Amino acid sequence: MFSEDGTGGDGGGPLFPDNGTATLARFDRPRGSGTTVAVLADPHLTPTARGSATLYHRTKQRFQMAVADAHRLDVDGTVVAGDLTKDGSGHEYRLGDTLVGTLPEPRLLVPGNHDIGPARELETGGAFARRYGHGSYPATKQMGNLTLCGLDSTEEATDRGGAVALPAGGIGDASGPCIAVVHHPLAGLPEPFDGTLPESAHRLQNPEATADALAAAGVDLVITGHLHWPFATTYRGLNVVGAPGCSAFPPGYLLVHVDSRGTTVSLVSLAGERGLAEAYEYTLEETRGDPVQSAVRDRYFGTFPQVDEQAVGNDTAPSGGRSWSAEQSG
Ligand SMILES: [Fe+2]
Ligand SMILES: [Fe+2]
Repeated sequence: MFSEDGTGGDGGGPLFPDNGTATLARFDRPRGSGTTVAVLADPHLTPTARGSATLYHRTKQRFQMAVADAHRLDVDGTVVAGDLTKDGSGHEYRLGDTLVGTLPEPRLLVPGNHDIGPARELETGGAFARRYGHGSYPATKQMGNLTLCGLDSTEEATDRGGAVALPAGGIGDASGPCIAVVHHPLAGLPEPFDGTLPESAHRLQNPEATADALAAAGVDLVITGHLHWPFATTYRGLNVVGAPGCSAFPPGYLLVHVDSRGTTVSLVSLAGERGLAEAYEYTLEETRGDPVQSAVRDRYFGTFPQVDEQAVGNDTAPSGGRSWSAEQSG
């Protein structure tokens, strides 16, 4: 069992879900006919860097593990929720291109703040969209009977009011289940970062207007990245999920399963016990170490599911099924 200092169990119950998969949320919508999507967020790929709370030396390995899971589970589609690269350099994009090409199709990618900018390989969200076959944002993809809509929340794409641009004609089939994906958090910052991180740097601009526009467009669920932290909540009538980073503590990805009962969001580990302890130790050395340590001590992961709206538990959602001890290399 993983413990706070990474040395073993403390007899007080798991500080992190210890079976490899945990149910983060059971929402009552969207509902559909059995569709599963794998969501990777903040892989921050780099072929050369090491260390930091993002564990740069693990980024390629974690991404490849998620890809292998997605193939094994025969998912209906895959999503990358931004910050594909460490800092948007050419060699990071070349690694990203190779790894993205291994993800099961259909794929939907949105840009993160680390991916685009004037000193980077790609200057705009539009260039990111074209690189990954989307043309422009908002970009829609059909996955099973779900409509996925990718939005660009990076600064260049926001209008003067700061709301994320939405399609003039709505998003896909408004009568069907619809999930939006955007890099920056839409809802207020969750525990343990509420009050400790500045919302101006960690939340998309004008969240109220963006949320209301998404709800009016028929979106049921919004998936966000950027925080490198798993959480689930509701905001202005929308269901909202924050995805973990692929390699930051706790390293993992999300499985989003939609069926007739609603949407079940599972957090799947991408690390064994040693890898989890390593990620925690790197995190403690950086500014987010204190809030993360507080969350672990308060057994944050024991609060799952954070939203539980389904009358009957959904036992048909696929499981990542990885034991903590299965991964040997950290
Ligand atoms: Fe990130
Ligand atoms: Fe980010």
